[in-house]
Amino acid sequence: MTRLSDIEPFFRPRNVAIVGASRKPGKIGHEIVRNIKASGFSGNVFPVNPNAQSILGFKCYRSMSEIDGKVDLALIVVPADMTEQVMIECGEKQVPAVIIITSGFSEVGNVALENKIVDIAKQYGTRLIGPNTFGIFYAESKLNATFGPNYVLPGKTAFITQSGALGLALMAWTTEERFGVSSIVSIGNKSDVDDADLIDFFADDASTQSILIYMEGLRNGKKFFESARRAVRKKPIVVMKAGRSKRGALAASSHTGSIAGQDVVFTAAFEQARVMRAKSMTQAFDWIQALNENPVPSGENIVIVTNGGGMGVLATDRCEEIGLNLMEIPEDLKDEIRKITPSYGSLKNPIDLTANADDETYRKVASILLGREDVHGVIALFCQTANIDPMLVAEAILLSREQSPKKKPITAALIGGHLATVAYSRMLEKKFAAYPTPERAVDGMYALIMRYRELLKTAD
Ligand code: ACO
Repeated sequence: MTRLSDIEPFFRPRNVAIVGASRKPGKIGHEIVRNIKASGFSGNVFPVNPNAQSILGFKCYRSMSEIDGKVDLALIVVPADMTEQVMIECGEKQVPAVIIITSGFSEVGNVALENKIVDIAKQYGTRLIGPNTFGIFYAESKLNATFGPNYVLPGKTAFITQSGALGLALMAWTTEERFGVSSIVSIGNKSDVDDADLIDFFADDASTQSILIYMEGLRNGKKFFESARRAVRKKPIVVMKAGRSKRGALAASSHTGSIAGQDVVFTAAFEQARVMRAKSMTQAFDWIQALNENPVPSGENIVIVTNGGGMGVLATDRCEEIGLNLMEIPEDLKDEIRKITPSYGSLKNPIDLTANADDETYRKVASILLGREDVHGVIALFCQTANIDPMLVAEAILLSREQSPKKKPITAALIGGHLATVAYSRMLEKKFAAYPTPERAVDGMYALIMRYRELLKTAD
């Protein structure tokens, strides 16, 4: 059996058991059943609890052995001292995939108990996620087997997180920010299934376009780097690796018991594995957004177009800081743009359309740029002014992308008050990499041009 089919039952189960399902709202074992029901999962749900008849309309079973037929995925939500026995029951029932939600294992020094459950899993050929996790969300199966928020916006990114609390918080945040996910996996103590197994799965998963990992440490670095190198040719991997500072590394090791390792070693190894390491959460999400919504560019020539000189300067500074190439605007391109823009605008790069620019000016200029062979990426910047509704500009930029026969990377920043926020949210809804500041629109382009494009050139 290949590793892929080992992992698949976690994501595409037909029959799910929750051992330790609780009758009491608010308890973790209750909320997981509630989320599975609310997410519209179409398979069978078997709560296991010897003290209950039914939970949320599902018939309850006294034990795993009482369930008729196959169970593909079992979630364990009983206290730690009961997990060994439940793992044996799952093994006897030949459950291929088990998620242990329960805490109280190696993360608090109880290594012996963790080793015992891993041994049981190995003995029965069971794959194990956790312990100490909040579960799994997989959009394609409409399966929210977590005790996080009951609604998660479906999308293109698989998010693997070693931190439970951060992952739970991000589940709610992604919906708020219109950042859709194909999957969220809380891997907890990574006693069996680890980042590498999941990268292998998501690399071949058609519903996933990019992979985002929050990592504190690695147990098997070689396995991770081999999987990452294989996957990167198919889709980008962005890693937030915590513990960059000495104190951060110490905090990481006491949080999940990870050996955070020397940070410089990780940085070098990520480079070799062609994994993109983000320095902050904002950077990671900005990169992923640009990567999800754009093709890989064919060159490095960037043009910035703006209605505000100051914003153009800020974006230029950022481009220079990170090595993005603002192309010299050729004379024939200047001639084309001159016909559309006022004489007091600037035809240098950034192209300054001036505060007079309306939506039609943005549409025409963006269309010209997107249609040129020698322009490989466009960054459109807009400062809210009194003479135009930002929504019109957003629609104009969207239209220019839609009408462009050549598919090219484009990012945008719309800066201003409420109307600008509404307009840039609309662009996000339309799967456009839009941001609230010029630097972030530049960073999105950087991820495509300098990082992923460069990494692909040297990928295996
Ligand atoms: N088989 C199945 N169910 C059983 C059994 C059995 N043999 N025996 C008892 N049960 C039932 C109980 O009756 C109870 O149901 P009820 O509420 O209807 O009576 C249910 O199983 C749960 O058992 P409890 O003893 O009530 O356990 P409790 O819910 O208090 O705690 C839990 C279990 C949640 C697993 C806890 O031990 C734990 O580990 N909590 C932390 C979980 C966590 O944070 N994980 C990491 C997440 S990531 C992050 O950091 C956010």
